[in-house]
Order: sequence, then C-alpha cells, then structure tokens
Amino acid sequence: MALPKKKLFIKTFGCQMNVADSQQMAQVLADDFEVTERPEEADLYLINTCAIRHKAEAKVQSLLGSLKALKQRRPQLILGVGGCVAQRQGEQLLTAVPHLDLVFGTHGIYRLPQLVRRAAYRPVAQVETAAGLAPSPRRHWAPGQVQALVTIMQGCDNFCTFCVVPYVRGREYSRPPGEIAAEVADFLAAGGKEVTLLGQNVNSYGRGLPQPITFPELLRRIGPLPGLARLRFTTSHPRDLSPELMAAFGELAPLCEHLHLPVQSGSDRILEAMHRGYGSREYLEKVAVLRRACPGLSLTTDLIVGFPGESEADFQATLDLMTAAAFDQAFSFKYSPRPQTRAATFADQVSEGVKTERLQRLQTLQEKFTLKAHERLVGQRREVLVEKLSKRSPEQLCGRLRTNQVVNFSGPPELVGRLVQVRIEQAHPHSLKGRWLADRPPAEGHHPEGAQGE
Ligand code: 5AD
Ligand code: SF4
Repeated sequence: MALPKKKLFIKTFGCQMNVADSQQMAQVLADDFEVTERPEEADLYLINTCAIRHKAEAKVQSLLGSLKALKQRRPQLILGVGGCVAQRQGEQLLTAVPHLDLVFGTHGIYRLPQLVRRAAYRPVAQVETAAGLAPSPRRHWAPGQVQALVTIMQGCDNFCTFCVVPYVRGREYSRPPGEIAAEVADFLAAGGKEVTLLGQNVNSYGRGLPQPITFPELLRRIGPLPGLARLRFTTSHPRDLSPELMAAFGELAPLCEHLHLPVQSGSDRILEAMHRGYGSREYLEKVAVLRRACPGLSLTTDLIVGFPGESEADFQATLDLMTAAAFDQAFSFKYSPRPQTRAATFADQVSEGVKTERLQRLQTLQEKFTLKAHERLVGQRREVLVEKLSKRSPEQLCGRLRTNQVVNFSGPPELVGRLVQVRIEQAHPHSLKGRWLADRPPAEGHHPEGAQGE
C-alpha cells in the first residue's frame, strides 16, 4: 500500500509568474506531497518570494521570522524559500535565517524533489540557485481547473534602470511554440476554458528560437484551439507592441478585450532615464490605434512615482498622461531602489514624503477613472467566467468579465467554472455587482464583449 502523502503548504508572494511557479512546485512534488491550505499541519512549508520592491522582500523576512516558532513546535518541518529573493540572496539567506532548511532559485524548481529529500535526511541546509534553463516537465491539469497560467518565456533583457528582474530572472528565453501549444491543448482537453500566457515581455517572444516566431503568430496558433473561450497575456512592453499585435485584438475571437500596458511615467525625461525606449506621445499614439482596433478594450497600466530626479512637472506629466489614456485601472508604486540596478545609484533620489504625497494624488485621480469605467458597464449584459464562491457569503459568486473587472452576484455554487450571462447592476470602486440571467443560454465565449451590449 502506498504511504499517505505528506502535506505541503506554499505561500506565494508577487506576480502571476510566481503563482505559475508555485503551481509547478506543487506538481513536481505531487508524488510525495499533497497541498494543504493550513500552514500549521505542513510537513514542507515553501515560501515563493518576490524581490521587485524593498517592501516585498521585507514581508518575506518578517514571515520567516514568525515561522521560527512553528519550526520549534514541529521539528520535522522542512522550511524552504524559493523564487526571486532566494535567487538573489542564495547562501546569505541561510546565514541570516538559521532555521531555514532549503533555498532554491527561480531556475531550480524541477530539482525540488531531490533537494527536499536531501534536506529531510541531512541536517545541512540545501542551497540550489545555479542559473540555467529548467526543462519544463509536462503539466498535469486537475479536472475542474478552468483557468491556466502558462509561462511562455523566462527572464528579461530590457534592463529598465529601476528593475531588478533581469538580475534575478536572468536572460530572456522563449519556450518552443509546439511545447506551449501542446500544454494548452492538454488543458483544454481536460475541460479548461481560460489561458493566460505569461512572460516579462511577451512582445519579444520568439527571438532566439531556432525557428523564430513572433508573439502574434503564437497567438494565432493558440487562439483557434478547440474549447478555448478566453485568451489573455501579460506583460506587454509598450516599445515592442507591434501593429500586428494590436490588430489581433479585433481579429482573434477568444482574445479578451483587455491589455495591461505598463507606462511607468508620463514624463519623457523620466521615461528616458528609466531606459524605456518610448515617449509619452508614442505611447498615446499606440493607445489610439488600439482603441480603433478594439473599441471595447479595457486598458490597465503600472506607474512608478518618485523615480530619481522626478520633479513636480514630471509628475504632472504623468497625471496628464493618465487623463489622456483614461486607464480602466492602474497599479501604482513608490519607486524603491533595488540592488544592482542603475537607478539606485542616481544622485537625485526623491524623499519618502514626496513619494507618499504623489502616490496619494495619483491614486485619487485613478479612482475616478476606474469608477467611471465601472459606471459605464451598469445596465449592460456581459459574459462572466465564474471563478469561485465569494469569501463574504456562500450564496455569492465571484467572476470576471472578459475586460477583467471583478463581478459579484448571487447564484448556485454549481456555476463555478462556467461562463454565464450577468446583468451589471452596480458599480463599486473595486468591483461590480451583477444579477445572474439564469434563463439566458450559456455564452459560447466567442463573441467580443462589444458585440454583446444591449
Ligand atoms: N520600484 C517601484 N516599482 C517597481 N516596479 C518594478 N521595479 C520597481 C521598483 N524598483 C513596478 C513597475 C513594474 C511592476 C511590476 O512593478 O511598475 O511594471
Ligand atoms: Fe523589468 Fe523592464 Fe524587464 Fe519589465 S521590461 S521585467 S520593468 S527590466
């Protein structure tokens, strides 16, 4: 008889790439471990870390500190740290945190089972942060899983002056298109509906492959796969957003009407210092082309305030660009100096107080645009992919529109995982409230949102 499986708890910080990596960790360990949601019963506790800003790293440190007590109560517990902080700090982490058993970087996921086994038998902590290309083991898709994150490339060659990613995740490398298409086809065959393609800069996908292929070509290969209702991707670099990719939004039915296009700043001077390779005018021109190709497009962005040298006028230029672009949603951050990056050495760092004040002003402006975008949806009938039961009440369901806004509505739990029709009734700052149109036939998911308005 097989031994009962041990319990694995994974705490994930950071981006969707990390979420995808955590899923892969669970998969490579599945022979010996089953995932638990309860950290106190874990035999193996893994923290998948994020290094993008200082605050993200600090959260990892404080969690590690608090786990000392758990480790004392459960001496057989194996505690491991993976992801970007582990890749960046390697052995230093072990010195700083003596109750740690295992450190593995972003390239070491497939070696996890050996590392865990060695950590269990040997009292010496294990470190594995060697760079190198990890072969991707064939993914297994759980029945009932309707959304998949599929990593199409690793690393980044852009070296934006504020960003630690190229130093942590390494050089850009694209997975072969056949491997990606097979993974998606497997997922759809198991009943999957929505696929999100992930990379630090998906627009440069395919460079360096033996048979080069562009990202729009990859989309055209994935888009028609039978059963695919929704296709998304992230992240796009504005400089590399080609006319071909913009056109894909109007042409590929499953491609959702949502684009995340991080602009970072509206000031040309700052964009240049960031080494972004575009100016505010080029960015806004691309937005105009996109809106013509896909009138219902929802556009979201990332913004940094307080980059070194940012004057009040530079910041004002960011607010002006936000107004011109009318983003549906913006993720905004105070600039955080990161080790190894060029901007960390720039002389004219902005004070914490000014950063806080600018972030506040920026978020107040964005809230107005987000709410307006939500209000425009009120009264419309939309397709929702139901993702889960709401945390607040068991009769409430929670899902997303093709344009990515969150919708809460009442309905039976059997709807989870299905595409349904919902009438949008209320706009809130962070979500929408809707009513399930039970009598409507389930949507095919092949109609652009714009065509469904009534
Ligand atoms: N400080 C603040 N924000 C940063 N980002 C990346 N690096 C930094 C940094 N050093 C933001 C960018 C990026 C998002 C993922 O995180 O806006 O698009
Ligand atoms: Fe970082 Fe720039 Fe690469 Fe994005 S494109 S991961 S911001 S270096």
